[in-house]
Amino acid sequence: MLNVVILAAGKGTRMQSDLPKVLHRIAGKTMLSHVIQSAQTLQPDNIVVVTGHGAEQVKHAFNEVADIQFVLQQPQLGTGHAVQQAVPALQGDNPEDTTLILYGDVPLVQPETMQALLQARGQGMAVLTEFLADPTGYGRIVRDEAGTIQRIVEHKDASETERAITEVNTGIIAAPTVQLKDWLARLQNNNVQQEYYLTDIIGFAVQDGVPVNAAHPQHDWETLGVNSRVQQAQLERAWQREQAERLMTAGVTLADPDRIDIRGSLQCGRDVFIDVGCVFEGDVVLDDGVHISAHCVIKEARLGHNTVVHPFSHIDQSQAAAQVSIGPFARLRPGTQLGDQTHIGNFVEIKNSQFAPQAKASHLSYIGDAQVGQRVNIGAGVITCNYDGANKFKTVIGDDAFIGSDSQLVAPVNIGKNTTVAAGTTVTRDTEDNGLVLSRTAQQYKADWQRPKKVK
Ligand code: UD1
Ligand code: CA
Repeated sequence: MLNVVILAAGKGTRMQSDLPKVLHRIAGKTMLSHVIQSAQTLQPDNIVVVTGHGAEQVKHAFNEVADIQFVLQQPQLGTGHAVQQAVPALQGDNPEDTTLILYGDVPLVQPETMQALLQARGQGMAVLTEFLADPTGYGRIVRDEAGTIQRIVEHKDASETERAITEVNTGIIAAPTVQLKDWLARLQNNNVQQEYYLTDIIGFAVQDGVPVNAAHPQHDWETLGVNSRVQQAQLERAWQREQAERLMTAGVTLADPDRIDIRGSLQCGRDVFIDVGCVFEGDVVLDDGVHISAHCVIKEARLGHNTVVHPFSHIDQSQAAAQVSIGPFARLRPGTQLGDQTHIGNFVEIKNSQFAPQAKASHLSYIGDAQVGQRVNIGAGVITCNYDGANKFKTVIGDDAFIGSDSQLVAPVNIGKNTTVAAGTTVTRDTEDNGLVLSRTAQQYKADWQRPKKVK
């Protein structure tokens, strides 16, 4: 049995925020959901979140996540006291049953590191430790001459010699559940901070002859905690840098790995190029040879091979097939599906519409709730009037139709195949195939026209 306890009761005073600290975000996702999702990869039997400050808000944010229990720690009397609140929820009474303790404000501990810690526990317990050039503020790992861990001493309680120790407690611990309950019951608060220190259980384990092992994180950013907006931004950068390096290792060219933001998952094929200032949100898939130009925002999208997105385009919940050209300054709203070799040019907004292969809308259009046939050419300034103020209607444009500039297609309307719509036409009725539609006031001409002049 594996129990996971996530400590998230702390106030986070230094965030200077009305939002509980663990609901602040890294890479677009709350810190607590990072921890929960990493923990879930271990397939635990139980996840218990200890809340305190902003407990209701934290609980509310995870309403939909199944299999999470919340326990309240009120008041907050230390990390040991926090885990004590979770005791009634901890399952398992066999020696191999384990409790893994994580922090809600240390969001990026990787699943591999959690696994390594569980491995290191063996028959005993394990602490995730690391070596810091400046260990100030951290609990120090005190070992004997043989190198065996004896106890953890908090910075504030440490002697000068102990403060010289550079191996620190990251706070992440794996312990046998049965003994953990016993150790927690033995905690005292006779220390400088008058808190119940979780770290005191290490000393109890040693007294009880339970081996205490150490595991170490693979990356130094994994164990960075967030106490302030400055630290939040530093961790964000570290994480973005990591993701950028993973992409480059997988064969993606980034114009500048320090100028990309991935707030979700970005999957790329071979020889993808991404220019500076792009933001990717949710799940985005870029197939082989996709080229993303500068300053694009791409959310929940899939772009097929060799598709090119020109600068300053915004793509949301949309899909493009192969060799599509999008932008500059294009806006693809949810439900846009672009076929092979379609062209979407500048200042074109598309919503909930399908473009068949080789269809084009090159300049200044709004196309909503439309089905656009193959090789259709939509001229500059064409608008689908899809909304009457109450209802949305569909526009269907047949293959090879030519929609002249500045036309309005008043939905619901069907434009036949190979139809020509003359520039400036307002189409209000369905058309047959192969014809010309024209609705235009006849042009007048007045020779030698005198413009009105201001009277002085
Ligand atoms: C703790 C460790 C220290 C370690 C450091 C790593 C103890 C006694 N000390 O110190 O050895 O080096 O983390 O960052 O464990 N929390 C609660 N309820 C409480 C107190 C804390 O839920 O009553 C939560 C906080 O929200 C936070 C975590 O526990 O997520 C750690 O608390 P914090 O006050 O940051 O611990 P430190 O004193 O830094
Ligand atoms: Ca801390």
